[in-house]
Amino acid sequence: MSLKPYILAIESSCDETSAAVMHGQKVLSNIIANQTVHEKYGGVVPELASRAHQANIVPVVQQAMQEAGVATEQLQAIAFTQGPGLMGSLHVGVSFAKSMGMSLGIPLLAVNHMQAHILAHFIQDEVPSHEPAFPFLCLTVSGGHTQLVLVKSALDMLIVGETIDDAAGEAFDKAAKVLGLPYPGGPMVDKHAAMGNPNAYRFTTPRIPNFEYSFSGLKTNLLYFLREKNNEDSTFIAKEVNNICASYQRTIVDYLLKQMEAAAKHYDVMDVCLAGGVSANSELRKKFRTTADKNGWNAFIPPFSFCTDNAAMIGIAAYFKYEAKDFAPITATPMPRIEWGR
Ligand code: KG4
Ligand code: ZN
Repeated sequence: MSLKPYILAIESSCDETSAAVMHGQKVLSNIIANQTVHEKYGGVVPELASRAHQANIVPVVQQAMQEAGVATEQLQAIAFTQGPGLMGSLHVGVSFAKSMGMSLGIPLLAVNHMQAHILAHFIQDEVPSHEPAFPFLCLTVSGGHTQLVLVKSALDMLIVGETIDDAAGEAFDKAAKVLGLPYPGGPMVDKHAAMGNPNAYRFTTPRIPNFEYSFSGLKTNLLYFLREKNNEDSTFIAKEVNNICASYQRTIVDYLLKQMEAAAKHYDVMDVCLAGGVSANSELRKKFRTTADKNGWNAFIPPFSFCTDNAAMIGIAAYFKYEAKDFAPITATPMPRIEWGR
């Protein structure tokens, strides 16, 4: 038997039902079922998300096992996202993982979704693989979180800064909504920004002590700006959408990187990483690299496929827990809000 474990990982924290089969740090399959049901509501509807997970979970797992070419008897553990996330969504993944683990008589691994975003950097999908060295600083930016995390090891992380209100992804999504762009908004803002002038308009971000963030004021700033312009000219948004997106996106990206740069200097790290759904943003990827180059830091950005929610990242986080024999009890429950890293 191979020394590297075969682990089935399940992710169901929000609106993606995903299953992956890992062999050690390698991904054998990573199936993601996106839920289109939320599009017409302009945001995730929790009740509909849990129903869709319930419908998707079995076919998604079956497809992941089939694509990996791994039989259920070969699995050494089952991993699931314990939180943070939506209660009803998490419930589906946790219950499924427990049932399957019990029927196969193999251990469970409970994974923190935010730590998994960070550990996606350790997925070995290239040869030779390239991993950040501990300790490093990670800027994790998703739809629900914005965090600066000092990663001392795969199992030891310290949150050194985070948003006191909205997440960066929310700032993107809410802007898209008021601009009349379809859900999910982040990628749409990115697309329009690529065709606009980032210096066309000025938006403000607050001064916050230490390495924390705040995005709620920026959102209001945009809303008032649009209201005023729209009163003067009702075609303003239609004509200026590219410039608005470019200027707004630049404001978010510069703010994210300013705090990251300060924290990286303070903690004297050599490696800096980007993680979470917003790390798919093209301007953030570009400026992240230039900021790192300017300071002589090594920059790590996961491939697009591992930026947004997926089960392979749960699988890699689970691998480290498996190696440490940090198994979850059968009484484990979903934790929509997990206190960690502070
Ligand atoms: O990590 P993730 O997939 O889910 C959460 O755990 O929240 O992140 C989703 C967030 C959404 O807010 C989405 O709009 C944003 O990531 N996002 C982007 C881009 N792609 C995804 N934001 C800006 N530019 C993008 N290209
Ligand atoms: Zn996420």
